[in-house]
Amino acid sequence: MSSPVIVYPPELPVSAARDEIAAAIRDHQVVIVAGATGSGKTTQLPKICLELGRERIAHTQPRRLAARTIAERVAEELHVELGDLVGYKVRFTDQVSDATRIALMTDGILLNEIHRDRLLRRYDTIIIDEAHERSLNVDFLLGYLHRILPERPDLKLIITSATIDPESFAAHFTSRNGEPAPIVEVSGRTYPVEIRYRPLSDADATPEESAAGGRGRGRPAGRDSVKSLRSSEPAATEPEDEVGAIVAALRELDREAPGDVLVFLPGEAEIRDAAEAVRGAYRSSTSPVEVLPLYGRLSAAEQHRVFEKSKVAGLRRRVVLATNVAETSLTVPGIKYVIDAGTARISRYSARSKVQRLPIEAVSQASANQRSGRAGRQSSGIAIRLYSEDDFEKRPEFTEPEILRTSLASVVLQMLSLGFGDITEFPFLTPPDSRGVKAAFDLLTEIGAVDLPRGSQPRLTRVGREISRMPMDPRFARMLVEAARAGSDVLTAVTPIVAGLSIQDVRERPSADAPQSVRDEADRMHARFVDPTSDFLTLVNLWNHLREQQKELGSSAFRRMCRSEHLNYVRVREWFDVHRQLKTLVKAPKHSGRPATEGAPDPDAVHRAILAGLLSQIGILDERTASTSKNKAKGEKRRIAEYRGARGIRFSIFPGSGLRRKSPQAVMAAEIVETSRTYARTVAAIDPAWAEALAGDLAKRQVTEPHWSKDAGAAVAYEKVTLFGVEIIPKRRVQFARID
Ligand code: CDP
Ligand code: MG
Repeated sequence: MSSPVIVYPPELPVSAARDEIAAAIRDHQVVIVAGATGSGKTTQLPKICLELGRERIAHTQPRRLAARTIAERVAEELHVELGDLVGYKVRFTDQVSDATRIALMTDGILLNEIHRDRLLRRYDTIIIDEAHERSLNVDFLLGYLHRILPERPDLKLIITSATIDPESFAAHFTSRNGEPAPIVEVSGRTYPVEIRYRPLSDADATPEESAAGGRGRGRPAGRDSVKSLRSSEPAATEPEDEVGAIVAALRELDREAPGDVLVFLPGEAEIRDAAEAVRGAYRSSTSPVEVLPLYGRLSAAEQHRVFEKSKVAGLRRRVVLATNVAETSLTVPGIKYVIDAGTARISRYSARSKVQRLPIEAVSQASANQRSGRAGRQSSGIAIRLYSEDDFEKRPEFTEPEILRTSLASVVLQMLSLGFGDITEFPFLTPPDSRGVKAAFDLLTEIGAVDLPRGSQPRLTRVGREISRMPMDPRFARMLVEAARAGSDVLTAVTPIVAGLSIQDVRERPSADAPQSVRDEADRMHARFVDPTSDFLTLVNLWNHLREQQKELGSSAFRRMCRSEHLNYVRVREWFDVHRQLKTLVKAPKHSGRPATEGAPDPDAVHRAILAGLLSQIGILDERTASTSKNKAKGEKRRIAEYRGARGIRFSIFPGSGLRRKSPQAVMAAEIVETSRTYARTVAAIDPAWAEALAGDLAKRQVTEPHWSKDAGAAVAYEKVTLFGVEIIPKRRVQFARID
């Protein structure tokens, strides 16, 4: 094989440190390379490995977008065709060949290769990039590699990290003689970045907060920000929303030296909105501004534009609107200014409501600093944060590792699917809580994802295998699996329900200090969708309304409609997004169930599918509490009907539910939340027989009073069926044998 000519860009810190790095790799099995973003870790390390004679290098990235762009970049630097010496593997696409020595891939792909190649023998070098992100995949890989390294003495492992706590990786990979793995620090030249705080005039922010933040208290911001914003925009009011704030920040930067702007936003939808607004704001401008979005679902060609020279004549500047992919994994060239909305979509499991969500959250201080640091790569720069300094100070220092933010049920499920064996013995960087692990097994057994044969290792069932491929709360995944089995019409109805449950409620209730008339209006608006037997069907009604309106109205009219109907527009869009993702994940098998019928599917079938994920979240009405509440005269304080739930809990239906006044005999709830009392939210009436059918062996049957019945001419008895301690069928006659 002809060797490529390897040249290192002289300006990169990694190039300067390459002898030191090469020596460390030669002498140690595990090496940690820490350095500021943009110092050349990602693009230069594989070349150093190549020069060391490594033949089969796996180079992992947390995101597909990064894996592909970096492969292109490395191929370009080595003057080779992509797919030849340098290739990449991501879900759905491969660009590798027998000649490939450097393979970029997502960390998920490498994890999957363990199935077929337990010791990852196809590689002699593994680079785990962006390890500081501590995604679940990175933690799985680092745990697994820790375990197999003694069996693969020839394997080299290189872990790269932004300058965030590289010591934790070094300590995890302590060698047999007690030495932690060496850390090579590559310090890059960086220039000072001036931080300016420009919080939104958010109604939620207290006046002191906005004032303190706006003036950049305690920080030599150089000028009084609030005044400068206003002096240039005499007619404009202070921006109330993110999009307005971004345009205002760009106007502020118009008075600064030329240079491109990188804007950090939480997701694709926000990027599209901001792009529209920025283009609009600069449409009639004499010197044009080029707006470039950068997020995962863009086409490769669109992503590419960010790394190419602009073709626009007389361009004033570029404005790149990016998700946190540009925070550490991709370096957008030419950036002098950063505008940081301060948020990201962070996957998070709520132990309280037991739901995995992808809420937009404030990023950590470390992330915010990474973001602003992007402005100081080539010369001194400015970062405008669209939040207050107080807000910054209150943020956590680091983002928690994903393993602490994920439902352990998902973690256990993935470990079983990867064949990692006993979770309590796995060498995690951060081990999960052991009580949590037990609860995770309970849940997985409940939804039929895991078999726990006595005395042997837990096994994934077929349903479990399907669920493990679905990146969402296992309960919700179970609902979709069941819906797909029931047929495509049921799946079509259940998908928006599951999407709706995965996000925060789009219905907004005005706060308690809002005028009564406003609160009544919101209630009236929301009441239009209520189905008195099922809050899930209420969601479907709301969904249908939103879809129709979205089709009919333009995007700004739709946004106004949402506001006037007390529906949160950002969450509505999130609902649409999640729905679209779920649709690509689950398809009903063509032959399954009844043929798709016109109109709405059988509501019972929809509810049975939902119940498949909620077996331990059912309740049977406690008659004593029900009768009191029914007998009470009008106007008197009603006693609230209570339900007996699984494992001895008692709950009542949440006041916002459409079933609140109905008190059906048996219910299921999507969430059981403890506040001042225990409430079930998003509830529907069920037939307990459905639960019995779905529960299989989990349902316990107890036979009493066996006797001979003359009428039946048979031995009969009574049977009680319980599920997690809930009497779902209190007494039913069973017949043993008939004698002719
Ligand atoms: O991984 P790290 O953040 O340390 O740096 P890198 O991604 O290897 O980037 C090193 C340099 O290559 C930066 O100056 C990037 O701007 C540049 N680069 C580029 O221009 N185009 C790419 N597709 C990738 C990197
Ligand atoms: Mg990198």
